[in-house]
Amino acid sequence: MKKLGLEKLDLYLIHWPVPKKDAYVDTWRAFVKLREEGRIRSIGVSNFNVPHLERIIDATGVVPSVNQIEIHPDFPQSDVGEWCRGQGIATESWSPLGQGGELLKQPIIKQIADAHGKTPAHVILRWHLQSRHIVIPRSKNAARIAANIDVFTFELTPAEMKALATIPATGRLGPDPDKMDMGA
Ligand SMILES: NC(=O)c1ccc[n+]([C@@H]2O[C@H](COP(=O)([O-])OP(=O)(O)OC[C@H]3O[C@@H](n4cnc5c(N)ncnc54)[C@H](OP(=O)(O)O)[C@@H]3O)[C@@H](O)[C@H]2O)c1
Repeated sequence: MKKLGLEKLDLYLIHWPVPKKDAYVDTWRAFVKLREEGRIRSIGVSNFNVPHLERIIDATGVVPSVNQIEIHPDFPQSDVGEWCRGQGIATESWSPLGQGGELLKQPIIKQIADAHGKTPAHVILRWHLQSRHIVIPRSKNAARIAANIDVFTFELTPAEMKALATIPATGRLGPDPDKMDMGA
């Protein structure tokens, strides 16, 4: 916080559960304490599967504000998102554009983008918003950063959302939370 020049953080997340270390429940207790001390406004987690979430909630009675997980239309993780919604946990999508790879060339996405006069990235970002995900696309290109925000002037129809749900599942681009050990 000294480095950030801040007295208080808005949101602080546990990056990975790292089950191999079995320290995430204790870490969550420390997060709860920091929030109680007024150092942090909201506390959350990242890359937590439902059993990890159940464990920290059972141990402390404190529900995270956010779970930031890998989500893109070809890896929707709807089961985790649904469960979180039931608990009032916001789902935030990382690698939302599928890391700018093959997903952007997907024919269904291209077709929907053309119908709206938008880019494939716009369609994907709109899919996240309409799926009720917080979305954090990355770009180092100023023009793309400016363009990517332009997602509030159009809406995907229910038929288009259904068509996007038919994109074949490709699996994860990043590590599996149950196996990720941060090099431990
Ligand atoms: N919690 C976690 O464990 C975790 C893990 C991974 C990532 N994240 C977070 O998630 C955020 C985003 O994820 P990410 O960077 O992995 O993937 P991403 O946002 O899905 O994709 C980023 C890539 O997409 C390209 N891109 C952006 N806008 C585009 C557009 N309009 N058209 C075409 N290409 C476009 C970017 O290239 P250019 O830069 O050339 O535009 C970049 O290569 C990151 O900021 C990171 O902090 C969190």
